[in-house]
Amino acid sequence: MHENQKNLVASVAESYADALFPAEDENGPPLVWIRGILSKSTPVGFIMCADPTEQQKDPWLWRLLVDKSHQGFGVGRFAVQSVLTRYRQMGCARVLLSWAPVEGNASSFSKKLGFLETGEIQYGEVVAEYKF
Ligand SMILES: CC(C)(COP(=O)(O)OP(=O)(O)OC[C@H]1O[C@@H](n2cnc3c(N)ncnc32)[C@H](O)[C@@H]1OP(=O)(O)O)[C@@H](O)C(=O)NCCC(=O)NCCS
Repeated sequence: MHENQKNLVASVAESYADALFPAEDENGPPLVWIRGILSKSTPVGFIMCADPTEQQKDPWLWRLLVDKSHQGFGVGRFAVQSVLTRYRQMGCARVLLSWAPVEGNASSFSKKLGFLETGEIQYGEVVAEYKF
């Protein structure tokens, strides 16, 4: 991860730790779904989601990280659209994500892909949804 990405998103290692030992909230433990992203057979990023469960009907796009040298080439868009397709096919009504209210966050990227703020704040982060 590039130095200037460190305050924006958790590292791959931190995300793995969260996937293996998730903090349990009132909705029960998250059902973690995690994939590496390849571009021409080269690892360029990863994406981590929380699949829908009985208690938490809406899936979450939890982490997305594209390597600095591969940003701006459509990798992030491809990854998000892939998970949106997956959740659409699973019959979900919407997909949620959140961003920290700090400069350089993924709000513009997420809005460009069709996510809209719900007006909720969770754990200090702005919640947005993609409605099918
Ligand atoms: C944010 C991130 C995932 C975007 O991935 P990417 O592969 O660079 O994005 P893409 O090339 O697919 O861009 C898709 C569109 O979003 C725009 N976009 C990408 N990053 C943006 C940003 N930070 N601000 C505004 N627009 C952005 C692109 O210009 C592009 O728009 P276009 O189709 O009109 O040209 C990537 O830059 C990243 O990993 N950043 C650091 C970590 C982070 O912030 N993760 C998000 C946590 S959810």
